[in-house]
Amino acid sequence: MPQNWTPDSWRSKPALQLPTYADKELLSRTEKELGNLPPLVFAGEARNLQRDLANVANGNGFLLQGGDCAESFAEFNANKIRDTFRVILQMSVVMTYAGSLPIVKVGRMAGQFAKPRSSDSETIDGVTLPSYRGDNINALEFTKEAREPDPQRMVKAYHQAASTLNLLRAFATGGYANLNKVHQWNLGFVSNSPLGERYQDMANRIDDALRFMDACGITPESVPTLRETDFYTSHEALLLPYEEAMTRTDSLTGDYYDTSAHMLWIGARTHQLDNAQVEYLRGIKNPIGLKCSPALETDELLRLIDTLNPENIPGRLTLIARMGHNQVEENLTPLVRAVKSEGKSVIWSCDPMHGNTITSASGYKTRPFDNIMTEVREFFAVHRTEGTHPGGVHIEMTGQDVTECIGGAEAIDDGDLSSRYHTHCDPRLNANQALEMAFLISDELKKLRIDKEANAPKVIAAE
Ligand code: PEP
Ligand code: CO
Repeated sequence: MPQNWTPDSWRSKPALQLPTYADKELLSRTEKELGNLPPLVFAGEARNLQRDLANVANGNGFLLQGGDCAESFAEFNANKIRDTFRVILQMSVVMTYAGSLPIVKVGRMAGQFAKPRSSDSETIDGVTLPSYRGDNINALEFTKEAREPDPQRMVKAYHQAASTLNLLRAFATGGYANLNKVHQWNLGFVSNSPLGERYQDMANRIDDALRFMDACGITPESVPTLRETDFYTSHEALLLPYEEAMTRTDSLTGDYYDTSAHMLWIGARTHQLDNAQVEYLRGIKNPIGLKCSPALETDELLRLIDTLNPENIPGRLTLIARMGHNQVEENLTPLVRAVKSEGKSVIWSCDPMHGNTITSASGYKTRPFDNIMTEVREFFAVHRTEGTHPGGVHIEMTGQDVTECIGGAEAIDDGDLSSRYHTHCDPRLNANQALEMAFLISDELKKLRIDKEANAPKVIAAE
């Protein structure tokens, strides 16, 4: 266990972005209640993810992390969970096919509720109220009652996470993820789009490969990986009273795990070395992520790496760069160089969403899809130049047909945003846009594979 660490050692550190609960007694009762509830994930699963991520860190895989900016109590139903899961499967099959790399699938799901905010309060028509901080803290509605942080919301979030995870596990292992269903994942509005055709075309080729394998005796019945998939969950570890209450000692190893998700990350606003979130995350054994914004200095990053992954374990730490489409080369390059020259093992992942948020002419918070795609391309370009592995992507997306990000194959414009703008926080890619991004990444992964093959040492056959 790390030195001087306990699940509550964060409490003696400065903490940003935490709500102030008026009823301290109710808060402490709620923490006890959560502490007695069953863990949501098992430590062994977090170790499996760690093992998969170690392969990514070593250049043999790609991390696909995606889901809502913020899950909500209102938008909680089976279809929504299924559709997000389905798009992640579609994206992953597109990338696997082109890149011949295993894709590690991690949802921003089953626990992604708490949100950092740029201001503690919000003023509308002269009325000032506390900011909305996510459904596990307070409610979005602009009234005094709704905005009051309520500890019992953490219990509701726990139960929603449990049901979400239950359904995800059922989809992942119960037959839905069977590769033979690759055509059926492409339903509804996506199949009628140009991307839908490109997807069908690839699915046909996968069918051919499966038929060939079938003839050789390799079938979903005989090989579990053809009928099941590993699907992991993650969220930002922001609301520490909740995360502490979900922290358990693993009976097999004696290590501490945060059992609220397989992977947890530190947001761009709470990564101060001496603060509470970094203190909490350094002590848990789950794989963790760290958002890297343009404000993060090289020295600071290296110190954070030493604190969060002192033993330099591959797969333990994913650095999620969110630089903004026109600042990738300038801001990512020095970080990548420093990490490489210090010999630190990390996964570099690209969040092309959070540095590309703008307000549209009609007043919507949106993200231009072109800029999102540019950031992904630039991310691959930096890694190509530096000779490092572009290890993943971290996106806000949904399987629904929303209109939140402008652009993409359907050319959503400012006037369309109002028709299906449902996010509780940041604008997400819809299913078509997510698939379009998967094709871009698959092209990049293919280039990477071709480069690697060209540079592989040649084996000269002996006479
Ligand atoms: C997020 O991922 O929703 C988020 C708030 O990102 P960041 O911490 O990078 O701003
Ligand atoms: Co967000």
